[in-house]
Amino acid sequence: MDNELKIPRHIAIIMDGNGRWAKKRHRPRTYGHAKGAKVLEQILEDADDLGVKYFTVYAFSTENWARPYEEVKVIMNLFREYLVSSLAKCMKNNVRARIIGDRTKLSPDIIDAIRNLEETTKNNTGISFQIAMNYGSRDEIIRAVRKLVREEREGKIDASEISEEMLEQYLDTADIPDPDLLIRTSGEERLSNFLMWQLAYAEFYFTDVLWPDFNKEELIKAIEKYSSRDRRYGKLK
Ligand code: FPP
Repeated sequence: MDNELKIPRHIAIIMDGNGRWAKKRHRPRTYGHAKGAKVLEQILEDADDLGVKYFTVYAFSTENWARPYEEVKVIMNLFREYLVSSLAKCMKNNVRARIIGDRTKLSPDIIDAIRNLEETTKNNTGISFQIAMNYGSRDEIIRAVRKLVREEREGKIDASEISEEMLEQYLDTADIPDPDLLIRTSGEERLSNFLMWQLAYAEFYFTDVLWPDFNKEELIKAIEKYSSRDRRYGKLK
């Protein structure tokens, strides 16, 4: 093992543990989400400083609607604020922001704010930042398949042409390289329907640290672990 830090081109994170972090402090779960949103801003900057080119986070899953109404409302409000407040920061730091997931189920003002953020930052050439909102991997694949079937029916493509590369172009992550490293905080070791297609060859890193306590030092620890692993993509070395 060498000690050189290999910086992953793309890091994906499941930001877990906000609720438990707040509970430990006898505060409502939503307090944990607010702190989590702040930590996210900092970690994006840290990842950028370290030379990461693509950064994707799981903010809200297709399953999260089943949480209590109040909690969903607070997360949506945080997201709403985040979309607006991050615009100036993205412009300042040359960040290109995109939202993945089924946005049609979000409220109209949020959809507008997403469109505005994506449009305004689309020519930025620095780190590419993806937020998964109302995202589920199975849902994403189903939406992609529906588009493919529609285009096949319209005669635009032929079923025999469908390849991995083609299907990828129908996913929300079209043109974004697959993550090299997935980090999940808070001790849970599951994928929870996150980027299942795209993570096929990623290295997984799990830590007990709760998301609101995650920081640059923890990020570097994950990258160190990643650097020491030998990625073979099914081949022999
Ligand atoms: C997981 O912790 C976290 C979430 C489901 C929401 C993540 C949201 C944020 C970080 C803030 C909002 C995001 C943006 C982009 C503004 P949990 O609630 O499952 O924690 P627990 O497992 O301890 O209950």
